[in-house]
Amino acid sequence: MQNTRLARRAAEEAQMRHLTPAAPPAPRQPRAAAPAANEDGREPAHGARALYDALLQANDRPDAALRAEARAFIERWRAEMRTQPCDLPASPDGLATWQQANLASTGAAYQAYLAVRKAGGPRRYFGSRSHALNFLRAVAPTKLVDGAWLYGLLPDAANPHLNDLILTYVEELGDGDPDKNHVLLYRRLLDAMGIVDWAEQPDEAYVQGALQLSLAACTTELLPEVIGFNLGYEQLPLHLLITAYELDELGIDPTYFTLHVTVDNAAGGHAQRALRAAAENLPALADREAFWARVADGYMLSNAGQGTTDAIAAFDPHQALLQVLGGRAGEGSLAHSDYCRIEGRTVNQWLADPAAVGGFVAALERKGWLVRGSDPAQSRFWALLQGEHASMFGVFGDYELQVIYDWIRGDAAADGAAFVRAGPAARAPAPPRAFRHVRRAAQGQTPLSLATLAEDGSTLDPDLAELRQMLEGDDVVGRGAALRRLLGPAMHWGPAGLEATRHVAQMMRAA
Ligand SMILES: [Fe+2]
Repeated sequence: MQNTRLARRAAEEAQMRHLTPAAPPAPRQPRAAAPAANEDGREPAHGARALYDALLQANDRPDAALRAEARAFIERWRAEMRTQPCDLPASPDGLATWQQANLASTGAAYQAYLAVRKAGGPRRYFGSRSHALNFLRAVAPTKLVDGAWLYGLLPDAANPHLNDLILTYVEELGDGDPDKNHVLLYRRLLDAMGIVDWAEQPDEAYVQGALQLSLAACTTELLPEVIGFNLGYEQLPLHLLITAYELDELGIDPTYFTLHVTVDNAAGGHAQRALRAAAENLPALADREAFWARVADGYMLSNAGQGTTDAIAAFDPHQALLQVLGGRAGEGSLAHSDYCRIEGRTVNQWLADPAAVGGFVAALERKGWLVRGSDPAQSRFWALLQGEHASMFGVFGDYELQVIYDWIRGDAAADGAAFVRAGPAARAPAPPRAFRHVRRAAQGQTPLSLATLAEDGSTLDPDLAELRQMLEGDDVVGRGAALRRLLGPAMHWGPAGLEATRHVAQMMRAA
């Protein structure tokens, strides 16, 4: 049986229940391989990333060919996930007990984790700051379409059976509040952490996001699967609690993650709504068992592809360094003069071949440009990036600098120190202050927001004026289409999307 996220999660929680000392996530196991071909044996035209990009680009208007492709993608993953064990109750009657048992086990595991940490145990997930940032980067394709699996229900918003699911979607969009829109929060987090190149990832990082967008594109045929997917996605997992705790500890804003701890709560939050939606949508005339089997398929799809603990376990500081340097090799190979020679080869020659980046790093170490296991201030290569005579200043973004910095520091990077920016007074690396302490210290000060710069709330979003005009007009059909388009996965986090969401949220609350 192939190892799955479900199995690893169960093992992790079992380990925590037995109060074993904190340890890094289990080494990455061979995962469920991406199903390769369509039912008729044709190779799919799109891999996960290409499908993800195409569906996002299409937003509310995937054409028939793209929808067929999305459906085939779902069917391939449905077949794959049917080979894995499913812990959903055999009938909806067992759902409440199932949820309570999951919650109790997650709660106990988290308390055990906290006890280990308070006794001085190391972080369980993130060995360094660059490890945490690499995780944020790895899961970005999924987080940036957060909620998308529910989008296809929007045309049926007047159906009271779907009320809980539509409300969940609108809340994923923050009810139109830019500080609560999940996708926008994640975009801001990536920007704040200097993670620019998140799109450059292997196909497996796109599987979960592509499934979510595919469900949105095929909702009319896949309502039970959407309900099941939502059921799986909206339960509170242990990894969310630990991730939020450790990001905070590393001085990284955990709001995106803590927000999910609160909105997914089982008492009245998304988890509870997910349960209610599963029960309320069971058919009275059609075959209930067949419906429930498809709900279970959807539930399993929420566990397909690379998950949180997979992304964390996959981190390797050396590979991350090679990826950072290799990512710049193309432009770097043209930027250096032939005076820069390392072991007889010009830097241009080293960088011209991305496969040679590993050899380049080894040569830099041999020649003393990189001194591993020391303060980066002692490495000449670091001095090129940050410092008084940093001729490569600005070449790398903050995430990339952190990867290089932590790689040079080696084991010492376990203190989670952020890289030291160039300045008149050079500092030694210092352990981070917890994010909550930084925020508490800032309490009482009026927070500055970029919105402060707007004149009379004005914005250059061309869709906003159009939306306002439509809302005042009497073209009901056009108005519905405009709202649906602006609430789409590609649009909802912009000014017009947020305003459209506020209107829909208002209609939902008034209904
Ligand atoms: Fe969310």
